[in-house]
Amino acid sequence: MQHLLFGAFLIAGTVSWSGDVHNQIGFMAEQFLEPYTVSVLEHILEPQYNGSIGRAAAWADGYAHTDEGRFSYQWHWIDAHDYPPERCDLFYNRDCATGGCVVSAIANQTDILKGCIADVKDGSLANGANLTCSYALKWVSHFLGDIAQPLHASGRAAGGNFYRVRFDNISTELHAVWDHYIPYFAANATTSFSNQSIAPFFKYLVSRIRKDLFWEAPYMWLSCSEPTTVVECATRWARESNKWTCDYVYSRVNQSNDLATDGYAVGGVPIVELQISKAALRLATWLNKLVGAEEKQYVPVEQVEL
Ligand SMILES: *[C@@H]1O[C@H](CO)[C@@H](O)[C@H](O)[C@H]1NC(C)=O
Ligand SMILES: *[C@@H]1O[C@H](CO)[C@@H](O)[C@H](O)[C@H]1NC(C)=O
Ligand SMILES: *[C@@H]1O[C@H](CO)[C@@H](O)[C@H](O)[C@H]1NC(C)=O
Ligand SMILES: *[C@@H]1O[C@H](CO)[C@@H](O)[C@H](O)[C@H]1NC(C)=O
Ligand SMILES: *[C@@H]1O[C@H](CO)[C@@H](O)[C@H](O)[C@H]1NC(C)=O
Ligand SMILES: *[C@@H]1O[C@H](CO)[C@@H](O)[C@H](O)[C@H]1NC(C)=O
Ligand SMILES: *[C@@H]1O[C@H](CO)[C@@H](O)[C@H](O)[C@H]1NC(C)=O
Repeated sequence: MQHLLFGAFLIAGTVSWSGDVHNQIGFMAEQFLEPYTVSVLEHILEPQYNGSIGRAAAWADGYAHTDEGRFSYQWHWIDAHDYPPERCDLFYNRDCATGGCVVSAIANQTDILKGCIADVKDGSLANGANLTCSYALKWVSHFLGDIAQPLHASGRAAGGNFYRVRFDNISTELHAVWDHYIPYFAANATTSFSNQSIAPFFKYLVSRIRKDLFWEAPYMWLSCSEPTTVVECATRWARESNKWTCDYVYSRVNQSNDLATDGYAVGGVPIVELQISKAALRLATWLNKLVGAEEKQYVPVEQVEL
């Protein structure tokens, strides 16, 4: 039921971080990819992306809206049986719906991607010739973004899609506030972000990751980042997102106010910055590990020479 109704909203367009935010998470991740990783991944993606996971990271939303890709649209979230702000919890076995969820989709597509990477290494895959492989990389690049969006890991009001709020005098849903209104507010953006290259706001987040300027040190975001324990790690990431729905998303929201001006957006900015930055660093780390470039992994700032 919930998914059926959520589907109506997908058609209306509120599906995940908006496409351009997904592109930007991908461009951020590119800043942390090892050259060897890049050289392998460019053989997996179809040529139109020119080897860029950033350019490819928004594909999954469009695909979910096609008849061919409909099966994948529920892979963008996990509907926890929670009730924030009173009760936040998320369990893979209980909450991952038949047909898949963002956690199982990350697991499944990561598994496929492993085989594809082996194919590139042994020379049997080049130039994005295998669509199953290109799709797997595009899905992984997209879903590691989605799983960091708090309302992609909460079931209340179908991820906030039925929770009416006002933002900048526009009547909208809480889900959309976290998908794009707060990211745009944080970046002070009046137009969409580029889908071709990294935008200044996201470059600034990359520099904050490199300089360890978050209240939580970036190396901690990687405490579970082993593609060999994918369900465990993805479930942990989803739980972190789910927890924000109790700690802020629903506990601070006030439906009679304009969220752009009542302090809600201002308070949401550091959460969005953190979650986007985690997603990007985790994506890069995941891909570096899958390709086997891990000896040159991201090193916390204390250990690098600046
Ligand atoms: C494709 O990527 C290469 C290598 O990163 C770059 O030099 C080139 O400008 C890119 N082409 C386009 C059309 O973006
Ligand atoms: C796993 O991926 C394949 C290929 O994309 C798809 O056909 C299958 O339905 C997926 N299974 C799950 C449980 O996600
Ligand atoms: C494409 O890659 C998938 C996953 O590795 C593999 O199962 C499939 O056989 C490949 N298809 C072709 C035509 O090589
Ligand atoms: C907000 O919207 C209402 C009704 O749509 C309108 O009357 C009002 O002038 C708007 N306020 C601002 C500040 O734009
Ligand atoms: C935000 O954007 C407006 C108009 O585009 C500009 O006047 C203002 O200086 C910007 N503020 C910041 C903090 O970047
Ligand atoms: C990329 O952005 C341009 C300019 O905003 C837009 O015309 C184009 O449709 C976008 N491409 C995709 C694949 O979204
Ligand atoms: C919501 O904000 C209004 C003021 O706009 C206030 O009167 C009301 O008490 C607030 N509600 C909650 C639950 O904080």
